[in-house]
Amino acid sequence: MSLVCLLYASTISDDFSPDDIKQILSSAERNNAKQHVTGMLSFNRQYFLQCLEGSRQQVNEIYHRIARDPRHQRLEILDYQSIPKRSFSEWHMGYLQDTQTLSELFYQYSSNDQFDPYNMSPEGAFLLLLDIKAEIQKALQTS
Ligand SMILES: Cc1cc2nc3c(=O)[nH]c(=O)nc-3n(C[C@H](O)[C@H](O)[C@H](O)COP(=O)(O)O)c2cc1C
Repeated sequence: MSLVCLLYASTISDDFSPDDIKQILSSAERNNAKQHVTGMLSFNRQYFLQCLEGSRQQVNEIYHRIARDPRHQRLEILDYQSIPKRSFSEWHMGYLQDTQTLSELFYQYSSNDQFDPYNMSPEGAFLLLLDIKAEIQKALQTS
């Protein structure tokens, strides 16, 4: 079955509260593991940027479930492509806490001080998630 990567951006809705992050990550961990989907989620208090990778059927199914979630809105697919291998195979859903390091990373990929994933190129958005992965790995090594 063909391996794909889907990258999308979304915006929090009025139904979202910061405590929801924990619950979103635990749903992702549980459901994505069952469906062999891996990926990375980033969040800057207003926007989400998420990459999902796995079989086309499973990624589509999970994305359609996520798209119905009232905690976010304005979902926009930034990229959807077939890939030869996974980039986030370590995590059913990787996530870096909102820290200074994350703000600095967002700034590196933004044209001004407002991080806005809707204005990123698919390549930029993907590279940002890869940098977040490297930061998580660094933090794991020093802990
Ligand atoms: C930004 C965002 C990302 C999400 N990512 C995932 C995900 O990767 N996998 C998943 O199963 N649910 C994800 N969810 C949660 C789903 O929308 C949904 O609440 C969940 O899959 C329901 O499953 P559960 O009843 O097993 O918790 C996400 C929600 C939001 C708002």
